[in-house]
Amino acid sequence: MVATVVESESAGAEAYAEAFDAAVAADERIEPRDWMPGDYRATLVRQMAQHAHSEIIGMQPEANWITRAPSLRRKAILMAKVQDEAGHGLYLYSATETLGASRDDLLDKLHSGRQKYSSIFNYPTLTWADVGAIGWLVDGAAITNQVPLCRCSYGPYARAMVRICKEESFHQRQGYELLLALSRGTDAQHAMAQDAVDRWWWPSLMMFGPPDDESAHSARSMAWKIKRHSNDELRQRFVDICVPQAEALGLTLPDPDLRWNEERGHHDFGPIDWEEFREVLRGNGPCNDQRITQRRQAHEEGAWVREAAAAYAAKHTDRLHGEATA
Ligand SMILES: [Fe+2]
Ligand SMILES: [Fe+2]
Repeated sequence: MVATVVESESAGAEAYAEAFDAAVAADERIEPRDWMPGDYRATLVRQMAQHAHSEIIGMQPEANWITRAPSLRRKAILMAKVQDEAGHGLYLYSATETLGASRDDLLDKLHSGRQKYSSIFNYPTLTWADVGAIGWLVDGAAITNQVPLCRCSYGPYARAMVRICKEESFHQRQGYELLLALSRGTDAQHAMAQDAVDRWWWPSLMMFGPPDDESAHSARSMAWKIKRHSNDELRQRFVDICVPQAEALGLTLPDPDLRWNEERGHHDFGPIDWEEFREVLRGNGPCNDQRITQRRQAHEEGAWVREAAAAYAAKHTDRLHGEATA
């Protein structure tokens, strides 16, 4: 009898796997209660956690300029943008929780270096123009990466991305508009904008991850329709979008090899310094230590807010129970 039970159990597991594969093939969404392969779940948790961490760590380089924004209008815009990034972190932590991950555990892994965030946020914001360069290039690269994620096979992630992408396009526009104002300003302002673009261009290209032949997780993520395009495809798309925008800005992209290739119908561009990328990933970027130290400190300083929120929620639940039993 045992044999029959085992057989029917494995037949059941096979049926689940078939249903999962069929849903992915038919471009249907996988939802939290659906059966999914363990590796699919683990891949999503890794990617979504890294994405959530990037959103909240990404608040730091720009928050650095809130007190020094050159006008009330610029300050209001920047504060709204940094708050949006906090919101993106919250949507994504919530979406990751639907896979069974706990938020405390995710934050613990960020703080102890066991989970990563985007290497781009380990670069410093040296001048006001960096706020513009981040909006234009970093948020621009994020949109290029994230628009296809709106069609990701995992429902909660795809839905979070729809809202995030709408806000990211506002971020990209504000960065572009800020750089345009500087580029058309005094010679010193123009030079400041150019310097920021010179420093952020190459790290932005690295945001798409290693080249396709070195990307460990790409092929499987594409088969599962978590990823829709390869790193190199997205990087090329981003370069093609940025070239005419740089021209309109009156700024130069710092790559002597950048030119239109008629045959390919794309821009060719120079080699990326992958050693720099690996060094930043290893923790040796200019700001790695500062970002994690500030994050841990913010977490500790926010303990009373979490406690107060939990106490309020408990009081509320008690009151509801009281009403129910009254
Ligand atoms: Fe964001
Ligand atoms: Fe953003």
